[in-house]
Amino acid sequence: MGEWVIEPATVESLPDILQIEEACFSSPWTRKMLEAELSGNRFAHFLLAKRTTPGDVGSPSIIGYLCFWIIFEEVRLMNLAVIESMRHKGIAKALVSQALEAGAAQAGMRALLEVRASNHAAQALYRSLGFCAVTTRPAYYTNPLEDAVLMELDPIVSESAQVTEAFGRDGGRITPLQ
Ligand SMILES: CC(C)(COP(=O)(O)OP(=O)(O)OC[C@H]1O[C@@H](n2cnc3c(N)ncnc32)[C@H](O)[C@@H]1OP(=O)(O)O)[C@@H](O)C(=O)NCCC(=O)NCCS
Repeated sequence: MGEWVIEPATVESLPDILQIEEACFSSPWTRKMLEAELSGNRFAHFLLAKRTTPGDVGSPSIIGYLCFWIIFEEVRLMNLAVIESMRHKGIAKALVSQALEAGAAQAGMRALLEVRASNHAAQALYRSLGFCAVTTRPAYYTNPLEDAVLMELDPIVSESAQVTEAFGRDGGRITPLQ
């Protein structure tokens, strides 16, 4: 078994998700926003990455998450973060890979997301999964004010097969979506 697994989030995970959210973003989602995605939005799916073995004393078991929507033919990646100490292990790639697979299984044809223009790490991640930048949305973000890059993966299917292969090498086990 790998160092971590991916599984669906429940509302009990909210405090841990909020803590990561506040550590990772200058303009974090609030508890209410996260709660709405976890329990009040029928299009929303929430995946967690969790350690399979205990880390150092006090280190969290939840190490990353991805919120995404499946709206008919479209998969929208809404919110993604991995704690700093667990980055560069393929966790984000595995989370996105599983979202793409879930979307494709529910007739999703293409995937979309917005990312800050200065967020080169995230853009590199999405490019590594086959996404392309399609346009810029001026002054989309606040705190700080910044453009968004709209990125798209179209079609999903062939690219996610490639992602799954890459993920398999990294050794995290995937728990199926509910
Ligand atoms: C962006 C983020 C989610 C990446 O998480 P991660 O688990 O470290 O990413 P992965 O290990 O799955 O990286 C997969 C690929 O993405 C790219 N990548 C990830 N981090 C990168 C970085 N800092 N610089 C350049 N490329 C990077 C690489 O191509 C990498 O593949 P490689 O390791 O084979 O080179 C993480 O840095 C993060 O949580 N950042 C803060 C929150 C954020 O920006 N969220 C995204 C909002 S759109």
